[in-house]
Amino acid sequence: MTKAPSDHSFDVLIIGSGAAGLSLALRLAPFAKVAILSKVSLSESSTYYAQGGISAVFDKQDSHESHVEDTLNAGVGICDKDIVELVVSRGKQSIEWLLEQGVPFTQNTRTGAENSLHLTKEGGHSHRRVVHAADATGKEVELSLEKQALEHANVTTYEHHCAVDIITANKQNQSPQRALGAYVLDTTSGKIHTFKAKTTVIASGGANKAYLYTSNPDIATGDGIAMAWRAGCRVANMEFIQFHPTCLYHPEARSFLISEALRGEGGKLVLPDGSPFMHEYDERGELAPRDIVARAIDDQIKRLGIDCVYLDISFKPKQFIIEHFPTIYARCLEYGFDITKQPIPVVPAAHYTCGGILTNADAKTDLTALYAIGEAACTGLHGANRMASNSLLECLVFAEQAANSIQNYLKKPLELTTISDWDESQVSDSDEEVVVSHNWEELRRFMWDYVGIVRTNKRLERAKHRVDLLQSEIDEYYGNFKISSDLLELRNLVTVAELIIQCAMSRHESRGLHYTLDYPKTDPKQIKQTILTPENFDSLK
Ligand code: FAD
Ligand code: SIN
Repeated sequence: MTKAPSDHSFDVLIIGSGAAGLSLALRLAPFAKVAILSKVSLSESSTYYAQGGISAVFDKQDSHESHVEDTLNAGVGICDKDIVELVVSRGKQSIEWLLEQGVPFTQNTRTGAENSLHLTKEGGHSHRRVVHAADATGKEVELSLEKQALEHANVTTYEHHCAVDIITANKQNQSPQRALGAYVLDTTSGKIHTFKAKTTVIASGGANKAYLYTSNPDIATGDGIAMAWRAGCRVANMEFIQFHPTCLYHPEARSFLISEALRGEGGKLVLPDGSPFMHEYDERGELAPRDIVARAIDDQIKRLGIDCVYLDISFKPKQFIIEHFPTIYARCLEYGFDITKQPIPVVPAAHYTCGGILTNADAKTDLTALYAIGEAACTGLHGANRMASNSLLECLVFAEQAANSIQNYLKKPLELTTISDWDESQVSDSDEEVVVSHNWEELRRFMWDYVGIVRTNKRLERAKHRVDLLQSEIDEYYGNFKISSDLLELRNLVTVAELIIQCAMSRHESRGLHYTLDYPKTDPKQIKQTILTPENFDSLK
């Protein structure tokens, strides 16, 4: 039996070092001892790759009411209006906080401009309200926050540390359970450590690696959502997986994103013969919400039997393109496309998990001392479809909400409970790693084929059947072999895939990102969130 050291004790354990986790750590650091875990390097996160920007009302012609209305429209009736109002009202101050942390947002260089920050536009927004750092907003945010966190004496960072499960205790059999920390695999040494904390926060991002084609980095395997579910938390709205309409189509490009801001600045979607098509689907054309644009592209690709459509911005001045989209310009050039001269081949790919761990306005989950923030959480902001650039804002606002709530919680006299260390005495080294990689591949492929942009009852049933088989195989594997990060991620992906399928099966209508040929219309009677409760869901426990 491997005994891991048990001296990792903190006031707050944060699982994840993206925008949500790092912002929270910085807000807590003045009064709490904080640990941040990252599965790989500190900066590798969806945050790092964010391009378009962060939505906030700065323009004089814009208003909070308009931002709220656009968000509610994109969410097709099931956003929580109070949460939308809370998040929108914090836009400006969140950007100001980021400026204080040193984020170099793009300035407005136009003479006589009303706003000092340059604002771009994206789908669903009726005004220019996207604050950005050229087309590498996420990288600038991530690196600035990381620098601050690394400099703070109260923040300890653990790279290459993968949380396995939340540790819970049920004091005197009372409900709800209390979170006590997490078991954590050090992926460099292979040891499992016990991290004890007065408060635990899941900030582990989305689950979009459940799909074969995704804009997300490899870390996005839904670990936090699966861990919270296993610990007894409710999960909501998992059917609403957002497919970004425009990822670079190239066999070696690993779904590199072509920002919606390119369409915001006038980019046109065209067919291989150069003809535009978006106005056949929506009067807002290229700037309709993402669900509509992704479905339109999927429809054209299937109808014409083509591999991709094209996004053209080459009619804009070369200087403008290179100044606004330096990352996209350089990356496309690497693959042989000069975007100042030719259109970019694009396809949709899984991009954002609108659902997640159900939380309240303070980012609290169903468990005492367990919070969830960022893409892992379902706060009610996005409803059936997230509007562009509302995600980073949500990370910032809920990090602040959680910090305020945790500060109060820590004022209570709390003791760290004694916890048994991880027991590996019954398991052996695996000699069948190939099984794990095959199962990964299979899962991601059938999720893409059967639970993708367009669904049917039959496709969902097929997916359910396959995921059930995988679930039992993985349970057996998990019970018998020492864990590796690949096995942990596969186990979590199977759980989130099952949650996505279950939510999709229970919604008998099409709404936002959930589109099914069996119920193609939106049904006003189903205007509610899909909430899964662990007790009612035996197969996943
Ligand atoms: P992430 O930034 O994904 O960070 C997750 C962290 O959790 C990582 O550190 C990871 O290592 C860690 N982690 C995961 N599992 C574990 C585990 N088991 N143990 C330990 N650590 C773990 N949104 C916008 O608002 N504007 C944009 O312009 C924009 N552009 C985007 C472009 C791309 C290409 C992508 C992929 C997303 C984009 N989004 C955008 C969405 C947005 O970036 C994400 O929703 C947001 O960054 C999520 O932040 P997060 O902190 O919740 O998670
Ligand atoms: C993009 O730049 O297109 C991504 C924006 C987002 O996902 O919010």
